[in-house]
Amino acid sequence: MKTPKGTRDLLPEETRLFQAIEQRAIDFFGRYGFQEIRTPLFEETSLFIRGIGDETDIVTKEMYRFQTKGGDDLTLRPEMTASVCRAVVQHHLVGKDELLRLLYMGPMFRYERPQAGRYRQFHQLGAEVFGSADPLIDAETIQALIAFLEPYQLPNLTLHLNSVGDETDRPQYLAYLREALTAVRDQLCADCQRRLETNVLRLLDCKNPTCRQQLVALKPISDFWSAENRQHFEAVCNYLAQVGIRFEINPFLVRGLDYYTKTAFELLSGDLGAQSAVMGGGRYDKLLEQIGGSPTPAFGWALGIDRLVTLIRNQGTSPEPATDLFFVFGERAWLDESFALICQLRAQGFSVLYDPRVGSFKSQMKRANKHQARLTAIIGESEYQSKTVTLKDMAKSEQQTLALDQLASYLKEVLAC
Ligand code: HAM
Repeated sequence: MKTPKGTRDLLPEETRLFQAIEQRAIDFFGRYGFQEIRTPLFEETSLFIRGIGDETDIVTKEMYRFQTKGGDDLTLRPEMTASVCRAVVQHHLVGKDELLRLLYMGPMFRYERPQAGRYRQFHQLGAEVFGSADPLIDAETIQALIAFLEPYQLPNLTLHLNSVGDETDRPQYLAYLREALTAVRDQLCADCQRRLETNVLRLLDCKNPTCRQQLVALKPISDFWSAENRQHFEAVCNYLAQVGIRFEINPFLVRGLDYYTKTAFELLSGDLGAQSAVMGGGRYDKLLEQIGGSPTPAFGWALGIDRLVTLIRNQGTSPEPATDLFFVFGERAWLDESFALICQLRAQGFSVLYDPRVGSFKSQMKRANKHQARLTAIIGESEYQSKTVTLKDMAKSEQQTLALDQLASYLKEVLAC
């Protein structure tokens, strides 16, 4: 017996990597205010049809849809944004003028043709923010993701960014697409001929080479942006530039799901072959309303954990993204004074963590263990007074004290081997 086509067992070594990513995500995104949510693996089919769109590839071809003995029409979740929105509406999680940040991780199911990096059961880590239309939220949520990925030091990643407009400017673009593509109708596949009538934007997702040829000369959606949407997009770009995040504007990026409004983005890797998308996301200001909630702007993304794990393993780095150094403080004030040093060490390439709650030495050491820290840097009363640090090698249980200003050069020496 074997695993069903498109699925696989995660053996212990790979599972450790999944765990490390998931545990770190909870800690890391917790610092941005994200709280984890878990929803059922299946939902009423109508949620995905209404949410994702009835002409998307996911809904027309890829759903694991089944009828229960009781006659319910259910589908294994192909993604979780629709499920999270359903939960937000069902439990009234977000009131007027409230901001809610939710994080999730777990398996998703799509009946796709399996190939390297593409599975029928795959895993996503996702983040969704509800209650703000502010472009700062778009930028902050993208920044959080990029910062999360930083310690993995993945080469060849490119952030592609676009705006897919909304009800103020997209109709003009769709009218243009319909006119331009109706003129070449005979060259389009049967699916696309139907999409011309039903949902012309989804024609841009078609993989058929003859259809793709017809798309080359089309105008991009950016030619149709309303002043407001252009302004929103420019604000997102400016915020990202402000924090040093590099991106490419890709005016043809429309994503394969219907719910997006304004910002849409993907992180592509040059090291993943055909399945190059590590993650994707964007703003979806109308989705909550569409599934029966009150108007609530929202923004989010989902990362393919399987693909991230492949990239980390290709790097040949250690199976766990171990922490180089974990700071342990006797007093919260000493952490505040060490903040600049921690940032400098990170900038020099070390992964450095600490527990912002400080707490007892014991609880901080426990946390250092949880992060699989190679070294802990202890700053207690005497170290603080003498501007020194006690470094403990966690594996060897050896420790030594050195001057704070020698820490960086010492780490370089020790962690290089
Ligand atoms: P998506 O682009 O369909 O977006 O999926 C996000 C990521 O999941 C992809 O970039 C890819 O890494 C991974 N993924 C998708 N399908 C597969 C597969 N068959 N095998 C392996 N990995 C896969 C969404 O799902 C949206 N819900 C993202 C979002 C959240 N938008 C707003 N909030």
